[in-house]
Amino acid sequence: MNLFDVYSIWDVALAKGEGCYLYDSDGNKYLDLYGGHAVISIGHSHPKFVENVQQQLKQLAFFTNSVINRQQQILAQKLGKISGYAEYSLFMCNSGAEANENALKLASFKTQRKKVLAFKGAFHGRTSGAVAVTDIPQYSAPYNLNSNVTFVPLNDIEQTEKELKSGEYCAVIIEGIQGVGGVKIPTDDFLRSLSSLCKSYGTMLILDEIQSGCGRSGKYFYHQYSGIKPDLITVAKGIGNGFPMAGVFISPEFQPVKGTLGTTFGGAYLASAAGIAVADVMIEENLMANAEKIGRFLMNELARFPQIKELRGKGLMIAIEMPEPVFEIRRKLMFEYRIFTGASSTNIIRLLPPLCLTEIDARYFIEAFNNTLIQLKIGS
Ligand SMILES: Cc1ncc(COP(=O)(O)O)c(C=O)c1O
Repeated sequence: MNLFDVYSIWDVALAKGEGCYLYDSDGNKYLDLYGGHAVISIGHSHPKFVENVQQQLKQLAFFTNSVINRQQQILAQKLGKISGYAEYSLFMCNSGAEANENALKLASFKTQRKKVLAFKGAFHGRTSGAVAVTDIPQYSAPYNLNSNVTFVPLNDIEQTEKELKSGEYCAVIIEGIQGVGGVKIPTDDFLRSLSSLCKSYGTMLILDEIQSGCGRSGKYFYHQYSGIKPDLITVAKGIGNGFPMAGVFISPEFQPVKGTLGTTFGGAYLASAAGIAVADVMIEENLMANAEKIGRFLMNELARFPQIKELRGKGLMIAIEMPEPVFEIRRKLMFEYRIFTGASSTNIIRLLPPLCLTEIDARYFIEAFNNTLIQLKIGS
């Protein structure tokens, strides 16, 4: 059987990962500034992560959520503490899209409404509900088209209020920072006004922190810079450092109703063991502060390049928007300097490295980026 050829792929087969580095099957070493799409938070194959998962695998790999799972309880305590949301409850699932599906359902159950307000440029996943609130038409099949969703421009509070005051919306869903959309950042004022509008009109505010969360911005969640407290927060990617896991943080205003949500695999023993290791290492290695510090260093260095059309970012979530397509730049970085980068649309390089990136690694990238622009005669 062949693989379904639905991804654009680089001609690289990886054999090993360690910290911020990857190694291909020929032994070449790469600097990872992509984190497998913002997934690697504490670093590839961190020893504590490996140890926790291995130990758990030897004890018990799986049983259903119909018995007490102490590992899941420990994880919830740790996530509550590290995020500052100890009074919220945790529902665990397996992927970011699934977390958003569950958050949307909770909002709809609670309000008994069915419309959702989302933002232009948003990406929330590929399952039915998540893709319906995603503003990328080619990701939706006719089956997914959903007349319950309205998109308004990010940071446009007038348009937002115009919609919300109809009283028909169960939820507003917004990314902490738009990732796939190219690191587009909601302003603090916008987030504060949005939060108060949601309260006025009885609409649940869902913060999708799947890409911008888990310390990537320098705080546990990006929205914490604005001081708001959403009703629901979705997490995935970084919380498992590569182990597939996700969750919804649910405010105390929600009462659990048995049977309304469920999952076979969500929060099972191996995932919880992985998540516990990630939460511990985040604290022990001060990774949020590191993301803030190295992110600031990269932003300051990149600001010196006149060839860049626009630079956006917070912590280790950075977009370098060029006036032209970036594929050749990324190809050179990959095959000559052995640096993995991400992209958004055709003209944006996206950096989403592990949060343990060092200044030495960051300098290596800046030098390679500079040399690449010179070699490609960009801006000369
Ligand atoms: C902001 C955001 N939400 C949701 C998702 C979907 O997550 P998953 O691919 O785990 O379903 C992603 C994935 O890139 C994302 O960036």
